Amino acid sequence: MKKLVVDILVKALPEMDIKLEKEEIESMVEVPPQLDMGDYSFPCFAFAEKLKRSPHEIALELREKIGNISELDFESVDVMDGYVNFIFERQSMARKVVWDAINDKADYGSSKIGKGKKIVVEFSSPNVAKPFGIGHLRSTIIGNSLANIADFVGYKVKKVNYLGDWGSQFGKLIAAFEEIGDEDKLMKDSMDYMLKLYVKANKYKKYEKLGHETFQRLENKDRKALMMWKVFRNLSIDEFEKIYNTFKIKFDEFSGESQSVKYTGRVIEELKKKKLLKKSKGAMIVDLKKYDLGVVLIQKTDGTTLYATRDIAEAIRRYEKYKFDEMIYEVGQEQNLYFKQIFKVLELMGYDWAKVCQHVSHGLYLDKDGKKFATRKGKTILMEDILEKTKKLTAKEIKKRWPKVSKKELQRRALIVAIAAIFYGDLKNNRKKDMVFDLKKFTSFEGNTGPYLLYTYARASSILEKANTKKGNSKIKIDSVEEIGDLMPKEFELVKELSLFLDKVQESFNKLNPSVVAAYCYDVCQTFNEFYHCCPVIGSENVGFRLALVEAFRQTLRNALRLLGIDVLEEM
Ligand code: ARG
Repeated sequence: MKKLVVDILVKALPEMDIKLEKEEIESMVEVPPQLDMGDYSFPCFAFAEKLKRSPHEIALELREKIGNISELDFESVDVMDGYVNFIFERQSMARKVVWDAINDKADYGSSKIGKGKKIVVEFSSPNVAKPFGIGHLRSTIIGNSLANIADFVGYKVKKVNYLGDWGSQFGKLIAAFEEIGDEDKLMKDSMDYMLKLYVKANKYKKYEKLGHETFQRLENKDRKALMMWKVFRNLSIDEFEKIYNTFKIKFDEFSGESQSVKYTGRVIEELKKKKLLKKSKGAMIVDLKKYDLGVVLIQKTDGTTLYATRDIAEAIRRYEKYKFDEMIYEVGQEQNLYFKQIFKVLELMGYDWAKVCQHVSHGLYLDKDGKKFATRKGKTILMEDILEKTKKLTAKEIKKRWPKVSKKELQRRALIVAIAAIFYGDLKNNRKKDMVFDLKKFTSFEGNTGPYLLYTYARASSILEKANTKKGNSKIKIDSVEEIGDLMPKEFELVKELSLFLDKVQESFNKLNPSVVAAYCYDVCQTFNEFYHCCPVIGSENVGFRLALVEAFRQTLRNALRLLGIDVLEEM
């Protein structure tokens, strides 16, 4: 619907000597806070200085230039206090929005702004041989949602999981395993055992040196060391996959720091050739002080590579493999400076595409007392435990409301609601901010929570279900969209809200912030609940249209939740 307004402005503004790109016009068009102020409005304040006239005069002239408008689309286009306000013809707007949502189905809200472009989205990226803890959950949730949103706006998306699967810690781990390892224990409870072994390796001094030597062996492709490393890696991936399967998250590629090994030699050569590499106390660095970015350590004195070397190499590998148009790294904000350094080095190496690489960062999860989780005696909070706890909480709520549900069905529902609780609990926040990770709040069925959204969805489903089972009222007839009586204000508010979905998805993508879609989910549910309270559906005079409106809402909410990685339940 916004498109109609933008198209009109694109034609009229040049006639007034105002030159703006279509995107600029799009971003200037506002949704007024109240319905009677128009469905959309265009402020003219920004042009007052240039045109040396008052905003109101400019708005009046713009209205004149717009000329006649289609009565089918607009009820009026008027000027008020320096704004041009557009009011749609209620019924035709309702017809169009509801019709589109029902017909476009899973595509409603999608667009093609990324058509022909490829984006690499790196996210999750846990560390091998360590259990998947709360530390990597945030990147997993946000990265997955960004990938979904990018896909929905038309990009070709490649999802990459960059495992922490290389580095001196693996030297230590392998060294410890070669000395005191127990294969049975490793196979039985892999993650737990690897963690214990690693903790032990860090306790004893001798593994310091041994670990060093073993990592050198790894970098020199020693077969035995590599074999052990592979076992640790595969066991870890198996564990991670279980979690991703539960979340229904799929990756196109399990990459990792190890993948870059082939390219690190080349990186060092290129850096040397371009005179970017400097010796410093026997090690090799790139000096970025000129850019206020400190120095980047590229090679240790013993010749082994570092995290940064591998990231630079991996970026080159990815570019050669995917020829991406954009690449984003969803990684915590503690690596802000680090990514600036990596992108700068790539730029200095002459890789033009460094400018389309972006670090999309997030804040921390805080405990209920507002403190960091990580500080707690170094104990990681395991994903499995979080999920179990959340499921228990949601199962309790479900059972309170539907005591008759079978055990198996209860488990199924509890899991879906639990994921909605955790994902939405995160995504409703601006990703850049720290947030309190409070499962009790996340799992509440009331307020701004995931379960509340699913509950509202299920309520809409049950209305349609009831209508369908009533005799002579089978299936919603889309034709009934044709017969719309006068719209009640709450009906129109819902129509309006549904029409905003497309814009919200695009805004969410432009800001690389899923919280825009999350906030939309909540708004559309609130609007639906208000509509439902004041406009009876079944048995009303306007039943045909209202059923279609409920279905349009259901489709829109389902699509929006899918972008957040959240499944729905027809019955809760
Ligand atoms: N494995 C790293 C960690 O747990 C995150 C990797 C981030 N991605 C990257 N390309 N460096 O901290």
